[in-house]
Amino acid sequence: MTDDPRTVPAGGADAADVIAALRARPRRTVLAVPGSSPKMIDKARGLPVDEVFLDLEDAVAGPAKAEARENVIAALSPSAGGFAAQSVVVRVNAWDTEYTVGDVTEVVGRAGARVDAVLLPKVRSAAEVVALDLVLTQVERSAGLPAGHIGIEPQIEDAAGLTHIDAIAGASPRVLTLVFGPADFMASLGVRTLTVGEQPEGYVPGDAYHHVLMTILVAARAHGLQAIDGPFLRVRDEEGFRRAAARTAALGYDGKWVLHPAQVDAGNEVFSPRQSEFDKAEGILAAYAHATSVEGGARGAVMYGDEMLDEASRKMALVVSARGRAAGMSVSDTEGRST
Ligand code: GLV
Ligand code: MG
Repeated sequence: MTDDPRTVPAGGADAADVIAALRARPRRTVLAVPGSSPKMIDKARGLPVDEVFLDLEDAVAGPAKAEARENVIAALSPSAGGFAAQSVVVRVNAWDTEYTVGDVTEVVGRAGARVDAVLLPKVRSAAEVVALDLVLTQVERSAGLPAGHIGIEPQIEDAAGLTHIDAIAGASPRVLTLVFGPADFMASLGVRTLTVGEQPEGYVPGDAYHHVLMTILVAARAHGLQAIDGPFLRVRDEEGFRRAAARTAALGYDGKWVLHPAQVDAGNEVFSPRQSEFDKAEGILAAYAHATSVEGGARGAVMYGDEMLDEASRKMALVVSARGRAAGMSVSDTEGRST
């Protein structure tokens, strides 16, 4: 045990296990659903995404905020039916509004048993995450829910958030992911474009967001968290979505927001390993386990095809294998069928 109260969830070891399990869930596709639209919430129920978030923030206009809260609470009631997604999250309003505490008190207080995590937008400092953690603990307790079982997903959406990212990632044991908010981020920096998810015209060659994306990814991994890419707004441009998703998938991101059913299949596909990659990872793990065993000669470096493997290769293969298994993949047989 440690003296730092923030390193252990309020609910102790039990909560730590729950949070670890939430952190490990797949998030290849994270569907944004405006809380103000019962129709879109109902449509979201059957979509094969890994996570759904019901939005009380920027997809809801000011005059519709109160109604959106009620819609979300109603949508989370057991009688309303569930979601195909493994994780159901609520995006509350940011701390610079008058809504944050009310959002948490109302939604978690009345429907917290069905909320896996709170998505906190526009996080600029660790204190904002600590504050949400403390409010969540009180609301969980007063609602008779186990303390510390609801995760926090901070969204990094401006220069201040990126500057303090390491402290934000480590601010609470509830933190599951770091989420990039490109639209707000571009506005914060003054990037010269109005097209979110695409490169700004005139920036060639290269990726104008590489530094931001990599900084978020590194901070996430330093704290054992997932890294999630934000939206691609041209919802009818599947090619463009695939291109943007492939870029962050290649870096190592775990998933990306989707805004429209048309983006779902592409997102799930791009953020799952290819079958050939998965087969190769499984092959490496088996070959390396054998080579390093006493029966296999206790060798630490071994040839696999034309590649030399060592312990680091095993770690890389484990990442691909874990992602493939989370996506329901299995090794294909010699004819290429999945078994
Ligand atoms: C999402 O919230 C964004 O700002 O891109
Ligand atoms: Mg935003």
